[in-house]
Amino acid sequence: MSVIALLGAQWGDEGKGHIADKLAGEASIVARYNGGDNAGHTITMGDTLVRTHLVPAGAFHPGATCVLGAGMVVNLRSLAREVDELNGHGANLTPDRLKIDVAAHLVLPGHVALDGVSEQRRGVGAIGTTRRGIGPTYTDKAARIGLRAGSIAEADTFAETVWAHVERANLNLRDLFEPELDADALSAEYAALAKRFAPHLSNVTALVHAALESGQTVLAEGAQGALLDLDHGTYPFVTSSSTITGGVLTGLGVGPRHVTRVIGVAKAFCSRVGAGPFPTELHGEMGDRLRGTGANPWDEFGSTTGRPRRTGWLDLVALKHAARINGLTELVLTKLDILTGIEPLHICTAYAHHGQSTTDFARDAAVLAECTPVYAELPGWTEDIGSARRLAALPRAAQEYIRQIETFTGIPVSHVSVGPDRSQIFAVT
Ligand code: IMP
Repeated sequence: MSVIALLGAQWGDEGKGHIADKLAGEASIVARYNGGDNAGHTITMGDTLVRTHLVPAGAFHPGATCVLGAGMVVNLRSLAREVDELNGHGANLTPDRLKIDVAAHLVLPGHVALDGVSEQRRGVGAIGTTRRGIGPTYTDKAARIGLRAGSIAEADTFAETVWAHVERANLNLRDLFEPELDADALSAEYAALAKRFAPHLSNVTALVHAALESGQTVLAEGAQGALLDLDHGTYPFVTSSSTITGGVLTGLGVGPRHVTRVIGVAKAFCSRVGAGPFPTELHGEMGDRLRGTGANPWDEFGSTTGRPRRTGWLDLVALKHAARINGLTELVLTKLDILTGIEPLHICTAYAHHGQSTTDFARDAAVLAECTPVYAELPGWTEDIGSARRLAALPRAAQEYIRQIETFTGIPVSHVSVGPDRSQIFAVT
């Protein structure tokens, strides 16, 4: 029938995992289309907390096939660890339920090593990458020297290719006086990984189209967020893939007419991990308050790296940019409960830059770094909202907060989350 695109509308970590998990029940295919194990989605299943990095949120919906699309970069070592863990929680990710597109690229040990080394060498200019080898893998893809998933079909040849890849990486590492990798051990390890995952290889694009042609729904689950998009984010402080709706099209091989819903997930405030401009960033007590102490798994600490996230007020200029570049049809607002008890609330409605006011998001990181936010003040609320299950049950000030977002962005808020549990997401009707 159609593709539902579910994407991050900020700098990632918007709480997409929970929403994806909720929507996965409606889909016959749940697909990742970009990035790799730099992503980290948290799903709460009753008392159990499960983190996914490569496997889409459909893992716990037996009716859904989980697919890794051509636009992804896949680290087989991480995938093995993750599949074992998810299967331990009952996911049953057999080759029938988890498919890897033959055209997805592989993240190999040399990529991971070089990501770490380049970050170290950038010094103060470091991007703050997740050091998962994402940038170097997409670099090889664009240079047309990458290794695609299809190459694991022949384990012996694959082992030789991995050996050559590691030796090539070693040339670079040697030049940089960094420790070298063990090509023999790694090629043996990757031959075993190839044997394990070869049965999962598939033509994901064909699978997706077969599902669409038979009237089924495909959920495209984004990783990272719009402001980390390689083209439209805060370059160079971005990831190396297309995180937006355009990435759904290229990453899965579908046309725009198939995408009928584009859902942007945004937190009720902002957070960012890694370096780069963040106009509404808060330092001190309020920033700490929004971050939480780390005692709860949903506090603002990276789910892949554990790094504390930078936090700040909601930035409507940035959110409108995300709405535009994605063609959002709706917004899901998460973590509204975190704002309870803050008086007054601030939302950024414009940037001031060299004496001029603008509501256009600057993509030049240097210009954005010079922008100062212009805030509107809104009244807060003190009531516990964790048990609200409809808009009218929220305090008037919380309803007004939502209305301001809709008015500024021109996009309706379709769902609100008021706590970490699956049951604490409600539809705004
Ligand atoms: P990379 O994707 O590991 O190359 O990192 C590039 C930038 O994107 C860094 O600032 C990372 O912190 C950020 N990033 C990558 N993946 C995520 C994510 O899933 N959530 C939030 N930030 C991310």
